[in-house]
Amino acid sequence: MQSNQTPTIAPAEGKLGVLIPGMGAVTTTFIAGVAAIRKGLGNPIGSLTQMGTIRLGKRTDNRSPKIKEFVPLAGLDDLVFGGWDIFPDNMYEASVKADVLTPQTLAPIKDELAAIQPMSAVFDKNYVKLIDGPNVKRGATLMDKAEMLMEDIRQFKERNNCSRLVMIWCGSTEVFHSKIHVHETMEAFEAGLRNNDPAIAPSQVYAYAALKLGVPFINGAPNLTTDVPALSGFARESGIPIAGKDFKTGQTFMKTLLAPGLKSRMLGVSGWFSTNILGNRDGEVLHDPGSFKTKEETKLSVLDTIFQPHLYPELYKDLYHAVRINYYPPRGDAKEGWDNIDIFGWLNYPMQIKVNFLCRDSILAAPLVLDLVLFTDLAQRSGMRGIQEWLSFYFKGPMTAPGLYPEHDIFIQLMKLKNTLRWMMGENLITHLGLEYYD
Ligand SMILES: NC(=O)c1ccc[n+]([C@@H]2O[C@H](COP(=O)([O-])OP(=O)(O)OC[C@H]3O[C@@H](n4cnc5c(N)ncnc54)[C@H](O)[C@@H]3O)[C@@H](O)[C@H]2O)c1
Repeated sequence: MQSNQTPTIAPAEGKLGVLIPGMGAVTTTFIAGVAAIRKGLGNPIGSLTQMGTIRLGKRTDNRSPKIKEFVPLAGLDDLVFGGWDIFPDNMYEASVKADVLTPQTLAPIKDELAAIQPMSAVFDKNYVKLIDGPNVKRGATLMDKAEMLMEDIRQFKERNNCSRLVMIWCGSTEVFHSKIHVHETMEAFEAGLRNNDPAIAPSQVYAYAALKLGVPFINGAPNLTTDVPALSGFARESGIPIAGKDFKTGQTFMKTLLAPGLKSRMLGVSGWFSTNILGNRDGEVLHDPGSFKTKEETKLSVLDTIFQPHLYPELYKDLYHAVRINYYPPRGDAKEGWDNIDIFGWLNYPMQIKVNFLCRDSILAAPLVLDLVLFTDLAQRSGMRGIQEWLSFYFKGPMTAPGLYPEHDIFIQLMKLKNTLRWMMGENLITHLGLEYYD
């Protein structure tokens, strides 16, 4: 249990190392973006920690500091980056291949990016079927590989003189698998690492290595990873924050904007068909039905919890919801999503809404990576342990404590996030009640 008292927050002194398994499109866009912003070559658009303000006290108080001035976050100049990938390309080469940022954006930060070389990865082709690469660790058991990762982490920390670390999974989406006995307790999990249990995914080996060293772990993909008692329980008991899963960016972001609005007006929805074309490596991986199933689970869960069909059967009981992703190489990272929403109003008269979002996946994801890293480090310094539900704002499939349902409504998520920051700093929570009628 976390106490309700305002926590004591350790200062953000020294370097914060950001360790990233999976250094593809999202990671390179994030690292290159931070490098460009540090040089004053761009703005951190999309980042709540950098651009957002927070209202404090009464509306008449006129106190709305920037979030980064209100809570003690690590500064961008204090971030150092490292990570692992199955491809040995340095971050400049990987950025060029990812083809998200233009040569003009990359030119002034080329040397800085080229200096970051991925460490060799823990990889298992059974978990990501459609790609393969040479930069992988060899070891007899998964435990050997976990120990190699821990050695990588220790060396990175020492080499870069970091005072703190955060790990964030930006690797490919692993195939769908469910929690079984080996994921139940730390004892069973460690035995599984020693016995090469096929039910342990590479992302779980990274998470184990991080948590064993007291490093917070964030999951940007929909993989099972820390969503198992062995790892989430260990994080809670050891006082380490974890967060996940699956960055809420393009289509699901739109869904969690629209659905609460329709529901707030008590409009019915009979169908929501979402389809996408996507041509980057993520799209290629998601072409495999196993990886797609993992993604589909987080994408589909959103509407049910927002619409609450058990409370509003006349409006949402028969909602037909389908999500498709098609790999279409010509588009690269520039994804296009279409939503057809069949709604109904007064006397059940039907209407339709069409949404066509031409987005840039990694441009939307990079600021989320930054915010999650900074907020999770803040949580660690504030003594907050286990699943950080206040960061649900950033995820398609927010992790929750056992027995609780996740909150998907982005407006409730934002209120929860900001109220958590107010609580951390000993400010009154804002409920938007404004009882002026009774003054
Ligand atoms: N871009 C978005 O908007 C968005 C939104 C939600 C979730 N995600 C998820 O974020 C992840 C990254 O997306 P991306 O577009 O950068 O994909 P990407 O394919 O460009 O990059 C993923 C990288 O992970 C590497 N990788 C795979 N398995 C690995 C392992 N075991 N160890 C180390 N590296 C490994 C791959 O080689 C690849 O370079 C994906 O899982 C994606 O589904 C992205």
